[in-house]
Amino acid sequence: MKGEEGTARMKAMELLVALGDIYGAERLIEIESAQVSGASFKTIGDAGIRWLEDFATEGRVSVPAMVNPLGMDLTRWRSMGVSSQFYEKQMRIAQAYGAMGLLPVYSCTPYLAGHRPRDGQHLAWAESSATVFANSVLGARTNREGGPSALAAAILGKTAEYGLHLDESRKPKVLVRLESVPTHLIPVAGYLVGKAVGNRIPHIDGLNMIADQHKSFGAAIAATGAVSMYTFRRKGDRIPPKSRSFEETIVLGKTELMRCAEGLRGGDDWDLVAIGCPHCSPRELRSMASVLKGRKPLKNTDVWFCTSRRVFKTCPEAVAILRRFGRVLCDTCMVVAPIEEMYGRTATDSGKAAAYLPSLGRQKTSYRPTRELLEAISR
Ligand code: F3S
Repeated sequence: MKGEEGTARMKAMELLVALGDIYGAERLIEIESAQVSGASFKTIGDAGIRWLEDFATEGRVSVPAMVNPLGMDLTRWRSMGVSSQFYEKQMRIAQAYGAMGLLPVYSCTPYLAGHRPRDGQHLAWAESSATVFANSVLGARTNREGGPSALAAAILGKTAEYGLHLDESRKPKVLVRLESVPTHLIPVAGYLVGKAVGNRIPHIDGLNMIADQHKSFGAAIAATGAVSMYTFRRKGDRIPPKSRSFEETIVLGKTELMRCAEGLRGGDDWDLVAIGCPHCSPRELRSMASVLKGRKPLKNTDVWFCTSRRVFKTCPEAVAILRRFGRVLCDTCMVVAPIEEMYGRTATDSGKAAAYLPSLGRQKTSYRPTRELLEAISR
C-alpha cells in the first residue's frame, strides 16, 4: 500500500506490518471487531490528542470498533469534580474517535454492551480485562493490543496473525490449583495468580466461577501478570488436568489468599468507595441494589458505582436504589478518571483497581469485598 488508499490506511498498514515483523506473523487476518484503549485525557495527554486528531482527518474504521472508558461521565462530569479544562480535552478525544466511526461504548465490558464476540472469532481488542475475558471465557482470539495497534486494526479490518490468534500459543503452561477460595476473595485470587504466573498462560483448577466472577478474576490476572488468557475446567470436562502436562504446578490455598487480602486491606479512612472495575454487569447492579434496598445511606464517604451506559439504561430500578448511596457513573472508571485531583484514599472491591490505583490514581488504596463496602456505606 503506497498511500493510494489514503495516509491513515497507509500508516495503519505500516504499524501492523511492523508489529507482524517483530512477532514473526506470516500474514494479516480479518477481524470481526476492534476495541481501542487510550481514551482518557489522563492517560494519553496532549500528545495523544494530536496523534488522534491527525489520524481522524481521514482515518475511518472498517469493522465495528468500540472505545474504552473516558476520563469522565459525559453527562455528570461536573458533579464528579472534573474540571472544565479536562472536559474540553476529553471531548476532543471523543470527537476524534467519533469522526473515525468508532462506537461510543466507552466501556471495558463491550461484551456486556451489545458487542459479544463468538467462539473462534478473531478480534483486535486493547483493554486488558476485556481481552482476557474474550480469550478465556468467550473463546474468541485476540492479543492484548496497544491503543494505536487496535486503532490501526479497526481502520484496516485486519490484524497480524501471531500470539493468541494461533492454536499453539493458546496452550496453558502452568497448572494453578486453587484450594478453598471463598467467593468474595475471587478478585484476590486473580491478583495472586497474575503475580505467580507472569507471562505464562495458566490452567485454573479448583474454581467454579460464573461470568461476573470470571470478569473480575481475569481483570486482576491481567493487571498483575502479563497474561491475556487462562484456561479452566468447563462443565462436562470430567478428567482433572495432570500436573505432568505443565511446566509447573502452583498451589494456592486459603492461607495465601488471606495473607494477600490482608496485605491489600489498607486503612479504613476512605474519601471514596469505588465499585465497578471492570464495569458492573446488570446482575451486579441488581445484586448490590437488593443488598442496599431497605438500608439507609451513611454519608461518610463518596461512592462511585461504575458501569457502561448501555447497562445503566437496562437497570433503571437498580440504578435508582444505588443513586441513594452514591453516583452511578457511565463512560468512565476510578482508574482512568483524574481521581487524584479529587481524592486521596479509595476503597475498592476490585483486584485490578487495587493494583492500579496506588500508581495511576495516586491513591492510598484499601481492598474490601463488595459486601463489606456496601455495609460500610449504609446502615
Ligand atoms: Fe475497566 Fe477501568 Fe477497571 S477500564 S477494567 S474499570 S481500570
